[in-house]
Amino acid sequence: MTGIIRYYLFIKSKKNNMKFMSFMLVTGALTTLVFSCNNSSESKEAPASKPGITKTDWGQVDGKQVYLFTLVNSKGTEVTISNYGGTVTSFVTADKNGKRSSIIVGFDSLNQYLQKPPYFGALIGRYGNRIGDAKFTLDGKTYQLAANDGKNTLHGGLKGFDKVVWDATAPSDSVPSLTLKYLSKDGEEGYPGNLNVAVQYTLTNDDELKIEYNAETDKATPINLTNHSYFNLSGDLSNTILGNTLTIDANNYTPVDSTLIPAGEIKAVKGTPFDFTSPKKIGRDIGLVKGGYDHNWVLNKKDSSLQKVAELSDSISGRSVEVYTTQPGLQFYTGNFLDGKFINHDGKPIQQHTALCLETQHFPDSPNKPAFPSTILKPGEKYHSITIYKVKLN
Ligand code: GLA
Repeated sequence: MTGIIRYYLFIKSKKNNMKFMSFMLVTGALTTLVFSCNNSSESKEAPASKPGITKTDWGQVDGKQVYLFTLVNSKGTEVTISNYGGTVTSFVTADKNGKRSSIIVGFDSLNQYLQKPPYFGALIGRYGNRIGDAKFTLDGKTYQLAANDGKNTLHGGLKGFDKVVWDATAPSDSVPSLTLKYLSKDGEEGYPGNLNVAVQYTLTNDDELKIEYNAETDKATPINLTNHSYFNLSGDLSNTILGNTLTIDANNYTPVDSTLIPAGEIKAVKGTPFDFTSPKKIGRDIGLVKGGYDHNWVLNKKDSSLQKVAELSDSISGRSVEVYTTQPGLQFYTGNFLDGKFINHDGKPIQQHTALCLETQHFPDSPNKPAFPSTILKPGEKYHSITIYKVKLN
């Protein structure tokens, strides 16, 4: 090849590169523009790496489009959420060595969520946890619900909020957030009233995943909304959660019967395996609790202000998560029913005690327990609650 030809090819390839780059820039700008102008567009975008939010098509359920939204903050922390079940599919943060991994279990494909995993990352409603005998009486009328957990109803019934497609909007604000809306029709899963629910997920630059729940109804109905993320702070399911340290700001809990329905009593944790009032390894006393922890702690907070109620720490990764909530209760569940049937996005089976839940909530079976704080939402009232999971390095 002569020097002239080589020079010509160099210029040509440079020009082509330039053309390619300007094409990419224009396409990128247009995609961003389309996305920020029209949130319902079906753009296919690569996962985000810059602060903001991106949206990817993820399939269809019930004839409705399902998306994955990736929220990224200024530290590069990423939370991925689908409008299918309002599911948080991953929460990627850096560990003490700067290695990034998801601190919650989940899957990459929608199809795996359609196999009915036990509520991984999902929004739960209308009623988080159990209602005894799958029924309750309100204003003299008895409502029959689906018995999907033995004779009880669990997490909203056969098709709870974790299995529906929510309407999603993602404003292009500097702090990424996603708003999900769902109308649960009068009679759905046996519950009364048209219930309009809006849940907003926000990822702050302090690595807080903030979840804000709002709802209104046109007939009195029980309501107890929560999120069912399963945490493994090490990001590696070959480590169980038994070595994690947990603190719960609760002097009392609600003991349960053999079907996990609260007996109605509020019992002191002092001197029992349920005492997490000061930091304690989860594995220390778990052997003393038949089946493992799966109970509601009665939080010490006295009102519905937003307060820190729990802290979970993992020494392997150096990560901790602080839980803040406006709710009166916390269901601490040590993944007792996990059996390795589902494979996490890190390729490892999700086995018993490889992940845990800290579900902020009202107490289980409240509609049948007049002594528990009321979970009845009436027409004209506004249901509002906030929960924050704040991740930090120890
Ligand atoms: C909740 C319940 C558990 C179990 C899981 C899902 O945390 O308290 O008993 O049903 O959900 O498997």
